[in-house]
Amino acid sequence: MYTHVPKCTPSQKPSAPTDRDNSGSGAGSMADEPPYIEAFGHKYHHSGRIFVPFDEKEQQRMEVQHKLYRQCLNGALTATRIPLNVKNILDLGSGTGLWPLEMAARYPQANILGIDISRIQKTTAVPPNVKFAIDNVENPWPISAGSIDFLHIRGLAGGVTDWPSLFKQAYEKLKPGGLLEWSEQAIQIFDFDGKFGDAELCPEFLKLWRDLGKENNIDFTPSPNGPVWLVEAGFENIAQRTEILPLGNWAQDESLRNRQTLMNSISNEHFENHCGLLFTNCGWTKEKFDEVAPTFFSDIRAESQKPYTML
Ligand SMILES: C[S@@+](CC[C@H](N)C(=O)[O-])C[C@H]1O[C@@H](n2cnc3c(N)ncnc32)[C@H](O)[C@@H]1O
Repeated sequence: MYTHVPKCTPSQKPSAPTDRDNSGSGAGSMADEPPYIEAFGHKYHHSGRIFVPFDEKEQQRMEVQHKLYRQCLNGALTATRIPLNVKNILDLGSGTGLWPLEMAARYPQANILGIDISRIQKTTAVPPNVKFAIDNVENPWPISAGSIDFLHIRGLAGGVTDWPSLFKQAYEKLKPGGLLEWSEQAIQIFDFDGKFGDAELCPEFLKLWRDLGKENNIDFTPSPNGPVWLVEAGFENIAQRTEILPLGNWAQDESLRNRQTLMNSISNEHFENHCGLLFTNCGWTKEKFDEVAPTFFSDIRAESQKPYTML
């Protein structure tokens, strides 16, 4: 789901983003980072509150996922139309930093700040208009109120416990008329033929995943609540957009086929990476999980010729 929201309420005077981490244009070295938590062979942030890992395999997955998002946007970097002279851009949960870096090439006059809890951002070929700060995005952001023209949030589910507060802060930090775009992939799988109506496939396992998330105070599919949270925070003119992400081997259309290829190449990792810490916290071993994984994927194939998930 994409939500892009012109904000029309007057606010305070704009000022440029600052970098609390003082790490210059790149995010710096990992040498002084605290130890990590290991689960299912992946590395998770030492706080134990971020249910997506940050190791090399996840970083590779993020890069494919970035291509997938661009594929869904016909090559664009945003669904929102941004003025070419946009000044201050904030990206929450930047990951390796591909999105801010590509935005910087497209909008060379803009100041772009990316915030992420893990120091995994690229450090080479970072232009001077991109800065990264290392922090939890649920903390106050190191920028003035009313200073941001465009705020981008993508793939943060699994690391945020209090979405309403995040959107309140987003509203406060945006300029009057500023724009927010938020995208999350659902943890739900459906059937394109509609043989099962609107029912999701593999409901038991997916429900278990979401329920364990709730027990850990993490909502892995927060998008459906987006409009309510955004309105409560003060946003106006909210628009939603849904994209189909095919799995398996059924898409005909070239664009859908491209999405399908990318989805097939990362769905196993997506599944494992997002479950590792959560399921470990809930007493699952990797061996038990590995027994479930093939059953999960073969159940999807057995239930539908045309499975898909959504963005
Ligand atoms: C799935 S990746 C998405 C990366 C990037 N936004 C993209 O779409 O390509 C999620 C990123 O959000 C970061 N993250 C998750 N929860 C966070 C939090 N509470 N504070 C800061 N970063 C967070 C993770 O460290 C990870 O780099």
